[in-house]
Amino acid sequence: MLQAVEIKKGVYWVGAIDWNIRDYHGYTLPGTTYNAYLVVGEKTALIDGTYPGHEWQLIERIESVMPLKKIDYIVANHVELDHSGSLPILTKKLPNIPVYMTEIAKKGMARHYDTSEWNIHTIKNLETLPLGGKTLTFLEAPFLHWPDSMFTYLGEDKILFPNDAFGQHIASSERFDDELGFDIALEHAAKFVANLIVPLSPKVLKKLGEVTDLGVPIEMIAPSHGIIWRSHAADIINAYVNWSNGVAKNKITIVYDTMHHSTEKAALYIAEGIMSRGVQVKFDLLKDGRYEGVHRSDVVRDVLDSKAVIVGSPTLEDYPLPTVAGFLYYMAGIRPGKQTQKKIGFAFGSNGGKGGAPAVITELMKKAGIQIWHEPVEFNYRPDEGEKKMFFELGQQIAEEVKKMP
Ligand code: FEO
Repeated sequence: MLQAVEIKKGVYWVGAIDWNIRDYHGYTLPGTTYNAYLVVGEKTALIDGTYPGHEWQLIERIESVMPLKKIDYIVANHVELDHSGSLPILTKKLPNIPVYMTEIAKKGMARHYDTSEWNIHTIKNLETLPLGGKTLTFLEAPFLHWPDSMFTYLGEDKILFPNDAFGQHIASSERFDDELGFDIALEHAAKFVANLIVPLSPKVLKKLGEVTDLGVPIEMIAPSHGIIWRSHAADIINAYVNWSNGVAKNKITIVYDTMHHSTEKAALYIAEGIMSRGVQVKFDLLKDGRYEGVHRSDVVRDVLDSKAVIVGSPTLEDYPLPTVAGFLYYMAGIRPGKQTQKKIGFAFGSNGGKGGAPAVITELMKKAGIQIWHEPVEFNYRPDEGEKKMFFELGQQIAEEVKKMP
């Protein structure tokens, strides 16, 4: 039988583990969890839920603690289906149960479900819900990461339930940071941030500032995906501040695709030049049906703490290869330039005729907020001896530039 996990006295993890999911709207993942929490005072509240199809895990874990019917309130921190997907079944099994959410979430829920029979209570910012011995406080968190989002804080136990924020997509038998290992948890959190949170960097900094101003102590962060931060709550908050500020390493990501290994050859010379100056290189051939490569959701994780991004593609009918174009549109949406500290970069590639891809790449890099450090660099067919030297020296020069950046 599935069991709840008591994370603090009277507070239980009752989520679902989705061991087999490998893609979530274009983000590759080694499984995930849909975390939900039961807070038991004199009254009981259920915070968050699961993706449709996983409700049975939630219900079975709740019933390892108490009969489902004993729940008095549901708190829905976020509309997205991976958390609200259990509401249709729960509101049917628990008719008239009050469901707490933001006003915007109420409208969003009605776009997803028939909510005509739901007993929705829309919260005001900082409204409290006393459960008797445990008190929930609701903090609106618009655009972290959807307009409807809110955080829930449990004062007596100093636990923040921030839904997606501070989450990680990982399925594991471990429920806590110190069980999984902080470095592993941090790496999964970094990928989550790189793909989902970076465009919201200014809002993250503002919200974290507001929470600090409230003066509420946070000893545990219980997000809606992945492990719970109980030993490293302060560390993950610091990491979010650094990621949102764009704090990066002396590291350069080269991302490219290649037709006949010519653009790849240029990429290799650039990488050699960078390495010769002691700067770290991530060398990402984009994933395609032709080879394993690196998925775009992993490339943006590399970009997260790189000071520079160099993008290469040969020209195919005036444009970059579709892999590179797809990556650039993805990165333009994420906009690493939203981080406080900027990133630099340039585009390069081989052509077999009039070319043009590096110029197109350059424009899309600008849309992503990358500061263009060098004009687009093109060469015909294979790089000759002079061009090999040029690419090697470009690598050296951008490495030196990166070392000067904060
Ligand atoms: Fe995990 Fe925005 O949903």
